[in-house]
Amino acid sequence: MVIAAILAGGSGSRMGNTAKPKQFMELGGKPILLHTVDKFLLHPEVDGVAVLCPAQWVSYTKDLLSAPEYQSVEVLAGGATRNETLKNALEWARHIGEDSGFGGCGDNILVTHDAVRPFVTHRIISENIAAVKEGGACDTVVPATDTIVRSADGKAISEIPPRPELYQGQTPQSFRCKELAELMESLTQEEEAVLTDACKIYVLRGRPVYLVQGEVYNMKITYPYDVKVAKALLDLDLSDGEKT
Ligand code: CTP
Repeated sequence: MVIAAILAGGSGSRMGNTAKPKQFMELGGKPILLHTVDKFLLHPEVDGVAVLCPAQWVSYTKDLLSAPEYQSVEVLAGGATRNETLKNALEWARHIGEDSGFGGCGDNILVTHDAVRPFVTHRIISENIAAVKEGGACDTVVPATDTIVRSADGKAISEIPPRPELYQGQTPQSFRCKELAELMESLTQEEEAVLTDACKIYVLRGRPVYLVQGEVYNMKITYPYDVKVAKALLDLDLSDGEKT
């Protein structure tokens, strides 16, 4: 089975003083979270969707998702960090279907996506699922357009890596549940402390993570400026017939 986990457990501190975490802010009259959930609910290859939100926002999120079209969406509490939220998602996803002969953890594919990237497309989701079926794990990326410089001390450049080798990570990031669970369980406490991204675990363990081509407009809404950009994007015909 293909399970989508919408990671909505953050507080959105960089958005400034808002009444609600940014995933609940409205974009074109609809909460950002619902724009994102819709993309996965409408994808024919996705069998189940969960939203992981801050524990204190669970009942609010359930209310948001109370309409009949969202009846199948599971609402779960996230964790203190994004990685903790991902772990909660994995714990839920790995056992789905176990009782119904699907094989549960062994076969399930977990597609994880930031709630605050509402412009994910049907193609990106399809290519994530295909990449996991073929390769085992994947990350959605776009080529870096700016030159990226590295600075060890924040004062002077230590390195300028070659730009053709650099990409910016987006989401979804997708995995085989069984493999991700095994890799996470293999981490030492020190490793766990520095591994803020699930794909890093694969890299650390020498497992391949394949690249899926993202879209520049599959942006993460982080700052107030991004809300303005997102409002403009909502009105644009983003690509030939595939706005969503
Ligand atoms: N996220 C999560 N659980 C956390 C932290 C983040 O599920 N404990 C989710 C966010 O809700 C968001 C995505 O991960 O959909 C990307 O997080 P980001 O926007 O970088 O973090 P926030 O904590 O939401 O924002 P900020 O860093 O500005 O506080």
